[in-house]
Amino acid sequence: MTQRPEIRFVPLASPLHSSVVLVVGKDMALGEIGGRLEKQSGGALKGAAEAAAFTGKARQSIELLAPKGLEIKRLVILGLGDPAETRDHDWQRLGGAAWAQAAQRRAEVVSLVVDAPSATPDQVAKLAEGAVLRAYAFRKYRTRKTEDGDNGNGGSTSRVDIHCAEPDAAAVAYEARGAVAEGVYLARDLVNEPANALGPTEFADRLAALAVPGLEVEVLDAARLRELGMGALLAVAQGSAREARAVVMQWHGGKGRAKSRPPICFVGKGVVFDTGGISMKPAAGMEDMKGDMGGAACVSGLMLALARRKANVNAIGIVGLVENMPSGTATRPGDIVKSMSGQTIEILNTDAEGRLVLADLLWYVQERFKPRLIIDLATLTGAIMVALGKEHAGLFSNNDRLVKELAEAGEATGERVWHMPLGPAYDKLIDSKNADMKNIGGRFGGAITAAQFLQRFIKDKATAWAHLDVAGTAMDSGRDELNQSWGSGWGVRLLDQLVAKHYE
Ligand code: BES
Ligand code: MN
Ligand code: ZN
Repeated sequence: MTQRPEIRFVPLASPLHSSVVLVVGKDMALGEIGGRLEKQSGGALKGAAEAAAFTGKARQSIELLAPKGLEIKRLVILGLGDPAETRDHDWQRLGGAAWAQAAQRRAEVVSLVVDAPSATPDQVAKLAEGAVLRAYAFRKYRTRKTEDGDNGNGGSTSRVDIHCAEPDAAAVAYEARGAVAEGVYLARDLVNEPANALGPTEFADRLAALAVPGLEVEVLDAARLRELGMGALLAVAQGSAREARAVVMQWHGGKGRAKSRPPICFVGKGVVFDTGGISMKPAAGMEDMKGDMGGAACVSGLMLALARRKANVNAIGIVGLVENMPSGTATRPGDIVKSMSGQTIEILNTDAEGRLVLADLLWYVQERFKPRLIIDLATLTGAIMVALGKEHAGLFSNNDRLVKELAEAGEATGERVWHMPLGPAYDKLIDSKNADMKNIGGRFGGAITAAQFLQRFIKDKATAWAHLDVAGTAMDSGRDELNQSWGSGWGVRLLDQLVAKHYE
């Protein structure tokens, strides 16, 4: 797995490394360390700020090289904004901005000084998480190095010492944040990996190798999936030379009253590559379909995060791993298959394959685990991108409370969701003359008819269920303060927040 940079929390007044990022409040409000540097340099900080029209607005920065009177070689002043208006997510973004500044030069170790007296240990931990998230780069296949020893994907910084008021408390708060960042790293690694290196078995092997205390990982091979009657999932895999797998991850972390509670379940689409099958996709941009396992990557990252931070919850993650290929053994348009639920499906377009995978996984988790809540994630439709662009994931649900919880968690983490409709009129669009249903609707509302299809596999109407269509957010979703990589790891932070806030 991609290495995370090391984070240490040290007392404010610890000796500074030669490269320093100093966080200052609005109107150049300097704290203890900033004030000391200002004095030693004979007013260089405020002088530079004035010359650059720097006000300390959030994430604004100026750089002072070889500042006179100071021991250090480089000082970056980074704006915090108004501390009273700075929310958790802003602290993360600030951490991301700090990393971007810190890693710009060759320094191996950088001091990041959080000199604002009002900063709490939790906020400092969020800042650290933001820095770590921003530091991610997928560089394992780049063999040529640039002259500063980096292989072309960023600086050579590998450690940040965060100077803050309560370093011990910040380090404790960071334990959970670091666990979540580790989950995001795993999800990004899985999405970025090309499909030749990450087939269903390789994906399953990676999960089996996680070795986190208490996280039980069980691989279901193709023979077992056949036994279980997963005819829909297997229909997707049958054109590929590579066999299907499903992986069940169990974390029974619930203590006390939470111990006997039914689990919450996360279900991920893991199409390691989606050619479309016989209904093949056009060539342009098809390479992006290596990311068609973004839902499965998120579920994997989330389960890793929950186990690493020892979440007080019983949670199950399941991912369905298949490759959608055209071949002499591939499913044909018009084929009718039987899903594990017993319902039959007429496959009119082999490119609408994700819902086939999820249909059987949804049924399986309900039969085996009787969950109190199910959330599935899938890069399911191009149509959701037409509707929402890449700013929100599409949210479909049978439960208004869950919608509200997810929407709030989205605002808190910046991984935002938009509530989309479901209803009988849409459901009718997937009725089939030849089977119980067909796997595509009409020309319009493609993300909705896909969600309706999934809902037909929710056994008990009383089970809270949400479907997140992450086609626009799991990959290539625009670089920002917290992510510069193609695979975003979208959803790990959202769902971790949901669990922490409502299910622990
Ligand atoms: N994996 C695709 C959806 C997708 C497209 C994800 C672009 C990310 C980026 C999915 O399997 C698919 O092909 N959906 C079809 C459904 C259609 C055939 C009803 C689509 O959206 O075109
Ligand atoms: Mn497809
Ligand atoms: Zn797909």
